[in-house]
Amino acid sequence: MTFVVTDNCIRCKYMDCVEVCPVDCFYEDENMLVIHPDECIDCGVCVPECPAEAIFPDTDKAATDDWLALNHKYAQIWPNITQKRDPPTDADEMNGIKEKLSQFSEKPGIGD
Ligand code: SF4
Ligand code: F3S
Repeated sequence: MTFVVTDNCIRCKYMDCVEVCPVDCFYEDENMLVIHPDECIDCGVCVPECPAEAIFPDTDKAATDDWLALNHKYAQIWPNITQKRDPPTDADEMNGIKEKLSQFSEKPGIGD
C-alpha cells in the first residue's frame, strides 16, 4: 500500500504535506507533487495536512485510479522536496477546479 497525490494538487501545490512526511518521499514538478510508492510507509499523516484534499490511499481505487502509475513514474524523475515554500499565488482559486489533468506538466520542479 501507498498514499497517492491526485489531480487537485495541480496548480495548488500547497506543500504542507512535505513538512510532515517522516521519510521525505515527495517529489515535485513545476505545479504538483507526487509520492514515491516504494518509499511511502503508509503513515497517513500527510492526508489531513493537504488543504486541497488531494492525497488518498491506493486502496481507494476510485480516487487514485491512474494517479498511482503517474506518482510512481515521476517520483523517479522529479527532484525531492522536503521543505515547504510559498504556494502559487492563485492556489486558492485553483482549489477544487475540475479536470486539472489538462494542466499537468512534466517539467521538474526545483527541489530543495
Ligand atoms: Fe509520507 Fe506518510 Fe504521506 Fe507516505 S503517508 S507520503 S510516508 S507522510
Ligand atoms: Fe499538493 Fe496538497 Fe501537498 S496540494 S503539494 S498534496 S499539501
